[in-house]
Amino acid sequence: MNELPLIRFIVCVGDVCDRDGRGSALHERLSEALDIDFGKGIAAGRIACTRRSCLRHCSQGVPMLRVEPSGDVYADADIERMLDLVEEALMAG
Ligand code: FES
Repeated sequence: MNELPLIRFIVCVGDVCDRDGRGSALHERLSEALDIDFGKGIAAGRIACTRRSCLRHCSQGVPMLRVEPSGDVYADADIERMLDLVEEALMAG
């Protein structure tokens, strides 16, 4: 049976969010940071960072990111704050 990830980051790389490559850059920076700090969790499938073509928050005009399962949405997310969310999820889960 496949277990859902404990926490998953979905980075928008749609036309608005990835204007000038900012969405892709956010996805790359977050993926690298997660891999450095939580590589084992990623390998175990408990932490994931994926890309999506639109999160329906285009009006913000900056790269958008959704966290699951909370459903919280962040504009131009701070990497350190996202790493803190992983710590909190690991402690809770
Ligand atoms: S293009 Fe990113 S939220 Fe729509």
